[in-house]
Amino acid sequence: MSARSLDGAAAATAIRASLADRIARVTTALGRPPTLALVLAGADPASEIYVASKLRTAADAGCRAELFRVAADGRLDDVLAVVRRLNADAGVDGILVQSPLPKAMGHDAEQQVFDALDPAKDVDGFHPVNVGRLAQKRARLVACTPSGVMQLLAREGIALAGKRAVVIGRSDIVGKPMALLLLHQDATVTICHSRTPDVAALACEADVLVAAVGRAAYVTPAFVKPGATVIDVGINRVTDPELVARWYPDGHPRRASFEKKGSVVMGDVHPDVWDVAGAVTPVPGGVGPLTIAMLLANTVTAAEARAAGRPE
Ligand code: GUN
Repeated sequence: MSARSLDGAAAATAIRASLADRIARVTTALGRPPTLALVLAGADPASEIYVASKLRTAADAGCRAELFRVAADGRLDDVLAVVRRLNADAGVDGILVQSPLPKAMGHDAEQQVFDALDPAKDVDGFHPVNVGRLAQKRARLVACTPSGVMQLLAREGIALAGKRAVVIGRSDIVGKPMALLLLHQDATVTICHSRTPDVAALACEADVLVAAVGRAAYVTPAFVKPGATVIDVGINRVTDPELVARWYPDGHPRRASFEKKGSVVMGDVHPDVWDVAGAVTPVPGGVGPLTIAMLLANTVTAAEARAAGRPE
């Protein structure tokens, strides 16, 4: 392991600290703290953990965060009704509806929910107005994970102008906004996806490689130019002992952790990539903490816009 570890947790702490003054000022202006409403439909265990973490982090930072639940057997209309109520509530600055929604709500439930959000309160940056503003390089609220990655790259002094960036994954949540943000910093950007032939050959050209595939250890050393910066957005829970044994040598701390818990969380990047890359974000502790820090930043931005009387 020779690559530098990019410490997302430290960057997230710095971002949260940098918000303190803004939170104090906007709290005075509004006569209440910046307020985030989280909507959770169902009881997906991973979503429960993410939402609890968002609530805790927001409260620790001096924001108000409230959880609104919809039952697992609720209908999409129930979620939409909560969103409309929160849109109309002047005491709410930001709204986040946790994905995934229960499957029974339909395949396009999430898009319907994002479309229903007031763009000024869309702290996920998923509403078409916010996506369009990002595409035109005049974004106000940007998807949290990709904007967190940009913060990390800037703080680590990793140059982008004139560099080759490759994003593996084309999701609305990470891949597409990530590619736009890199483009806006003058990188030459390639997006790879499930239908791209020979992803490794393209990835190998990257000075900055972003893996947002959702497949454990997908990015092997064959994908990585020596010295490249590798950003691992994946969070994959691996339960197959054979895979864990293949990826982590005997005596590796992850092996011991797996023996104890029966699973291990790893990213999209194979552990051997650390021998080739110049810098890598670890999982956990890399991109994950930045996502929540940027959610807070977006909530504060939305609250400031409200205090300034700027609707959207
Ligand atoms: N589920 C996993 N990540 C996210 C996210 O960034 N926003 C929302 N709304 N749901 C998620």
